[in-house]
Amino acid sequence: MRYQFYREHKYVSAALNDLERLIARTDFCDLSALEGVKRAFESLAEMLKGHAQYENDRLHVLLKQKNSSSTVYAHIEEDHSVQDRQLTEIEKSIQGIFLEPESANKMERGYHLYLMYRKFVADNLAHLHEEETVILPELQRLYTDSELQQVEAHAYEEMAPEEIIHMLEILFPHMNVHDRRAFLMDIRSLVPGKFKAVWEGIQSKMGGNELAAIA
Ligand SMILES: [Fe+2]
Ligand SMILES: [Fe+2]
Repeated sequence: MRYQFYREHKYVSAALNDLERLIARTDFCDLSALEGVKRAFESLAEMLKGHAQYENDRLHVLLKQKNSSSTVYAHIEEDHSVQDRQLTEIEKSIQGIFLEPESANKMERGYHLYLMYRKFVADNLAHLHEEETVILPELQRLYTDSELQQVEAHAYEEMAPEEIIHMLEILFPHMNVHDRRAFLMDIRSLVPGKFKAVWEGIQSKMGGNELAAIA
């Protein structure tokens, strides 16, 4: 198999769906439940914005450097701008429920938030699909596997072992053994001096079988 990006989409997809299920269950007349939705949304929005920024700055730039046709990445970058606008609309919708004094209207607004957010998830899942089926093959066409692997080098050089362990703790529960191994192989090749600490740190977080398969 060729070198892959976007393995973290498994986590992104789970995070999008977790919030959809939370909004689906929420009683919008209950202020503390609404607070919970707001906090979960803010943390998801921050993650999604960071992820889009990483893709624009680290991945699309590679396509531009090799003069890949803008038709390959222009739509995806436009999606990232649309995502920002959708996130602002969802934030306003949540704020509107807080400000609404009438219970019946809160329920009505909550239902509209649910519909708006579920549509956002649908758009976002289609976006992840396009990245993996259009952008990734183009990157693989233009670069060798070892060139692609170097993309993550700077990020790992900047991160302390504890930060790498924290990132893996978030991602690994959503991934299979081959994805986990790919992350660990990248870390071993790109920042060999940090590998021992990362490997020891992550061992306590993983099941025996998964650990044996990777070791
Ligand atoms: Fe994206
Ligand atoms: Fe993505």
